[in-house]
Amino acid sequence: MNITTTSLSARKKADAIIIPFWQQKTKPVAATPINKLENEVTSLLAAGDFSGKLEETAVVYPKGEKEARVILLGLGSSKKVTVESLRRAYAAATKMCQLKKCSAVNVLLPEKFLTVEEVARGASEGILLTNYAFDSLKKSQKEPAALLKTIHFVTGEKKTSVIAKEAAKLCSGVNLARDLTNGNADDVNPQYLVKLARGLAKKHAKVKATIFDKKRLEKEGMGLLLAVGRGSKPDPALIILQYKGDAKSKEHTVVVGKGVTFDSGGLNLKPTGSIETMKCDMGGAAAALGTMEAVASLGLKTNLTVVVPTTENMMDANSYKPGDVYVGYAGKSVEIGNTDAEGRLILADALAYTAKKLKPTRIIDFATLTGAMVICLGAEATGLMSNDEKLADELLKAGEDSFERTWRLPLFDEYKPQLKSDIADIKNTGGRGAGSITAALFLQEFVGDTPWAHCDIAGVAYLDKPRRYHPKNGTGVGVRLMVSLLQKK
Ligand code: BES
Ligand code: MN
Ligand code: ZN
Repeated sequence: MNITTTSLSARKKADAIIIPFWQQKTKPVAATPINKLENEVTSLLAAGDFSGKLEETAVVYPKGEKEARVILLGLGSSKKVTVESLRRAYAAATKMCQLKKCSAVNVLLPEKFLTVEEVARGASEGILLTNYAFDSLKKSQKEPAALLKTIHFVTGEKKTSVIAKEAAKLCSGVNLARDLTNGNADDVNPQYLVKLARGLAKKHAKVKATIFDKKRLEKEGMGLLLAVGRGSKPDPALIILQYKGDAKSKEHTVVVGKGVTFDSGGLNLKPTGSIETMKCDMGGAAAALGTMEAVASLGLKTNLTVVVPTTENMMDANSYKPGDVYVGYAGKSVEIGNTDAEGRLILADALAYTAKKLKPTRIIDFATLTGAMVICLGAEATGLMSNDEKLADELLKAGEDSFERTWRLPLFDEYKPQLKSDIADIKNTGGRGAGSITAALFLQEFVGDTPWAHCDIAGVAYLDKPRRYHPKNGTGVGVRLMVSLLQKK
């Protein structure tokens, strides 16, 4: 993506110009001076065909301007403007650009009511998050999706392009996560994630990759990850990516991401209606790897490690069995109540290893862990569970900042008896009630005293229809949340 700043008089030719408007009692008013462009929009405004309400768009075709199209964009009331409302508005304008197959666009920005930084961030994230298509599997589509290639921000504020270029790096992480989630499960398998992780280490000098293959997993005693992987053709693996961006600091954040590249349920096979979307079950891994891409591209001053346990969960003669007991890295034995509760098993090994060997100051895991979370919070919030008040508060705040909102659920001890096993130390299922919480309580058994937060993204990682700046399917959720957290915004 090409990003520049320019002035109204010096602006170059483009396919469209976006003009933002505030909604007002009588008629909408341009949110920044537009000089003689005013003439081009007067008749549309006089006809009352555009009110300026949030996300509203209208197109007029000017004469003798540098652009073939003027896109009027509603920002809603100036009293209610936020970074998020700008994301939504500029997302709507970007969709109009895509509809008209625009490649280069001149973009005006509102003045006042928010800081220059907030305006630049909201507008560029709105544009860049919307400027995404996953169409590599559409083989008979002749032309690739019409996406914007050049954005000229029409503003006197030079730092706008600096902020927009940072947003582009952030969104490259989000879009990597989306691509990974959207890719065929047959393509994006554990070995694909391993290769991708090695590629990230090659691309970024400050990133180092360590991979545990099946042999190493056996040596380490990661019996739970191995158990889940037993029924699959591709071998399971554990990916560790380390980024040192602040050598002087003792702070060290580990992000653990569930990387089940296809979740059939195993011998407790998922029924038709549930199984079809299960390529999304590596959404946590996608969030973790996308976060690494964004953090390394931005060169954030922070120490971050990403840990991804990855495997398929398949039905096969070799599959692990319901009712059997398996022992993992932590030495705890686990009774398998259901082979479809596989995420917590592979995370248990990854979390136990992280706490014991990497000794971070905090752990945050991302996982499409429970169907119960889809019922509980739907597609509008990530379920947050934590053993640490400060970390939980920071994640709630980062959720507001990025608008990848999180909502906390309790980890009361009183739920723990649900995980009791008669034959092993613990069971991997806890019955119907509080399914998301008992899953998190299972994970908590493996983190020791380390400050830890669990983000259940089952409802938000994969959408069944497009929404605001997200396309249908993979959202890449978690990346912007983590970058907000690490930037302490
Ligand atoms: N990957 C699923 C959870 C899921 C469901 C993610 C829907 C995205 C959308 C997970 O592995 C799973 O199957 N969980 C079971 C656990 C149960 C067997 C205790 C569930 O939630 O039904
Ligand atoms: Mn499952
Ligand atoms: Zn799963």
